Amino acid sequence: TRVLVLNGPNLGRLGVREPEIYGHATPADLEKAAGEWGGDLGLDVEVRQTDDEATLLGWLHEAVDTRAHVVLNPAAFTHYSYGMRDAAAQVTGTGLTLVEVHLSNPAARESFRHLSVVAGVATGTIAGFGFEGYRLALEAVASRVDRGE
Ligand code: DQA
Repeated sequence: TRVLVLNGPNLGRLGVREPEIYGHATPADLEKAAGEWGGDLGLDVEVRQTDDEATLLGWLHEAVDTRAHVVLNPAAFTHYSYGMRDAAAQVTGTGLTLVEVHLSNPAARESFRHLSVVAGVATGTIAGFGFEGYRLALEAVASRVDRGE
């Protein structure tokens, strides 16, 4: 079972970017950990990051075409990208699981972060658990796959 872990803008700066909010783990740490968590769960995990909206949409289209589940941290796109929402809707619309992940808890932050335009088309959302949220998201994918969902 393939899972694409897709990270949006500024998440390539993890570790140096506002560590008091986003933690000290780096993109390399995430890639390594996600591969190990995926291995334990029987998932074939690939981690990608882009600052570019078109690239992210292309990866969501690829998930549909190749039947890959998605763990998505859309970063700032969360709050305003209807194009990304529409691409995410195609993933869940074809029966694949898409878990929205946020390192921080956007509901506890500035009001512009309270709206997620993606949440309504995601299978579900995990927010506020830092780096660990990606593990929780992969567990959610694995348990849905086990249940045949
Ligand atoms: C984020 C939260 C977003 O509001 C923010 O724009 C990000 C990261 C998170 O992981 O907590 O870039 O998605």
